[in-house]
Amino acid sequence: MFEIEGHLECRHGHLFIGGADCVEIAEEFGTPLYVTHEQRIRDNLRTIKKAFPNAELLYAVKANGNLAIMRIIAQEGAGADVFSSGELYMALLAGFPKDKILFNGNSKSDEDLRRAVESGVMVSVDSVMELESLSTIAGDREVRIAFRVNPDVSPQTHPKIATGLRTSKFGIPSEQIVNAYERAVELPGVVPVGIHFHIGSQILSVSPFAEALEKVLGIAKELLNMGIKLEFVDMGSGLGIPYEKDKKAPTPQELADAVLPVFEEWCKENGVYPKLVLEPGRYVVGDSTVLLTRVNSVKGKFVAVDAGFNLLIRPVMYDAYHHVVVANKADVPPDKTYMIVGPICESGDILAKDRRLPKIEKGDVIAVLDAGAYGFAMSSQYNGQPRCAEILVQNGRAELIRRRETFSDLIHTQTIPERLL
Ligand code: LLP
Repeated sequence: MFEIEGHLECRHGHLFIGGADCVEIAEEFGTPLYVTHEQRIRDNLRTIKKAFPNAELLYAVKANGNLAIMRIIAQEGAGADVFSSGELYMALLAGFPKDKILFNGNSKSDEDLRRAVESGVMVSVDSVMELESLSTIAGDREVRIAFRVNPDVSPQTHPKIATGLRTSKFGIPSEQIVNAYERAVELPGVVPVGIHFHIGSQILSVSPFAEALEKVLGIAKELLNMGIKLEFVDMGSGLGIPYEKDKKAPTPQELADAVLPVFEEWCKENGVYPKLVLEPGRYVVGDSTVLLTRVNSVKGKFVAVDAGFNLLIRPVMYDAYHHVVVANKADVPPDKTYMIVGPICESGDILAKDRRLPKIEKGDVIAVLDAGAYGFAMSSQYNGQPRCAEILVQNGRAELIRRRETFSDLIHTQTIPERLL
């Protein structure tokens, strides 16, 4: 049976999250439903802060852009990594201070750059062409920038989420980076204050981080010799979490043990002490959330539920594993091997393959675990499915933080040209 861990527990046969009964919540708010435990987010952030006491944390908004969730993260003192003007808009609304926001992105429009300049946030510049545009747009204002370096390091993760390989679209190749900084020094309006890299996501070994950091510190040393003294080194993120309950993922402390000696040694050697910046997304919110989905019917091994890849695309997109628990039978031993499939009109709409679970019946509530990162954030309305609601739980209390969409939300941005009426 599933080993209940951390903030999830089994009480009188039901799965509880943050002291709240998943079965009751599903009854009260309906399914499908994302349920997030506030304290788990706070604890995850504190775990990272404990391992990296001197680092600045910029939460990767792309992982989960719910305002209440971002508010909790801002309250814990983190800043934000935003990847679009939309994320910038949401991060500012959630209360992240502008001097703790870094605007990332490999394809920023002039409009994006204008918004960054007007909001007074920092920009991680992804090409020299972008630098030139930013300088023009900044005019007589000053924008603090970093360059994103492509360190050409293999993160040993799913190819779709490896971002620091030479073949990847992100960042400036190492051999061109010094020229980029030289150009930034010449240009008005842009002040190079940092260097940035990000090698991928769901990385299960700490050595690629140390390897990439070492490479980037080599560049920072060259810059130092040219008289460019950086205020921060941003090592992005990518720390994996243990989706598979019998496997381990490195902890923030293990990551710190691998990278801090490299960083501290470099600082001492060079007599400069830039700030280390991290951009955690998945680790902060991933395990804070369950997706509750109700069984519509059982047909042999197929368990058809009311959530599919419209609400959680990770299993389909990355062959990702998400552990599932039958929330109303959390202490019942497994009986059969099932496939949990969604309501979407595609054979690939499978949330969980070959799972040993208790005998499943219509009306059972299935909890898909670790759905807080890139879950709702990547959801869609495909097949005319309104997006589901989101609930926040703390000390057994459940509050609505996003209402369920209605059918009118499916069409409210559309118009039929008059000539067709
Ligand atoms: N910083 C940058 C520049 C990033 O591109 C990302 C993620 C992060 C930080 C946060 O990384 P994390 O701590 O979450 O690993 N949709 C995929 C993951 C895509 C990650 C994209 N970049 C998934 O569901 O696995």
